[in-house]
Amino acid sequence: MADCVKITLDEGIFHYKSRGSSRTCGLYLISDPNKLIVVTIEYLDVLCQGGGLISVVDGWELNGAVFPSYEDHEKSISSRFHDLCVDTKRHPIKRIFASSQNAALIQYRIPMFGQGFSVRVEHIPNPRPCNVLVQDTEGIFTLENYGRNVNCSVMTIFDAKIRIMYMNTGLHRSGVKTFSHSPRLQKGIYHKCAKMGMEDFVQIGGSSGLDTTKMETIDEVCGYQPHALSKSMTIFCGMTTIRLVSSGKHSNKVVVEVLKATIDDLDSANYMCDLGLGGYK
Ligand SMILES: *[C@@H]1O[C@H](CO)[C@@H](O)[C@H](O)[C@H]1NC(C)=O
Repeated sequence: MADCVKITLDEGIFHYKSRGSSRTCGLYLISDPNKLIVVTIEYLDVLCQGGGLISVVDGWELNGAVFPSYEDHEKSISSRFHDLCVDTKRHPIKRIFASSQNAALIQYRIPMFGQGFSVRVEHIPNPRPCNVLVQDTEGIFTLENYGRNVNCSVMTIFDAKIRIMYMNTGLHRSGVKTFSHSPRLQKGIYHKCAKMGMEDFVQIGGSSGLDTTKMETIDEVCGYQPHALSKSMTIFCGMTTIRLVSSGKHSNKVVVEVLKATIDDLDSANYMCDLGLGGYK
């Protein structure tokens, strides 16, 4: 662990020994979408008195923005940051933290030369993934609320082309105010769903940071779409988000194909954030 910021998909033991820098650094952990991350502090020699601190974070934090956002996480922001340091040298400490999704972070600032820590990182199955961070993989991703009142997101940290492969929101279960009462609206995709009075829908948007509450929503869709759409949506913002909003009254599911957007897709881009263009000008 030499670099100050490192992203890793690996499991195993990570060691860090300070060379005396007081910079805040991060080990960004990510796993497959259907896994969550268990962090065990195996060894901690970070003295509080020396200004040292490590923080195990349930999610990723970058430039003050957090994924999943406070709106889309069942835990409060403060309970997602676990700050650790020790009062006496080589105080034995073994603590275990489990993330709520496939992303976690170990932030550390250890100004005292020679101090450090060891952590064990394991990926374990997450039977009902809600929020998913996608660092580098293209593929098919599924969001599902299992009837719960939760908002779930897939966020890519690259410019992306998004195509809906299957969608069923606002339709199934608990009878009240569903599309099935209105035959006119039975099949197909509808837009501006919140305006239509729908409480369950899918938002597609982009942002320049990790905070989905600050994203630009480019489309908002709901309804029943059993087959893949032929058209995809291309968003150049740096980060791309598909967000499933669920009231808890319905069982919702959306399946999307996520591909990386390249310079060849610029002409057909549906949306570009100001910052998203930087690298191409
Ligand atoms: C889900 O998102 C919607 C719209 O952004 C919001 O009104 C609602 O309060 C959120 N639900 C939960 C459980 O956070």
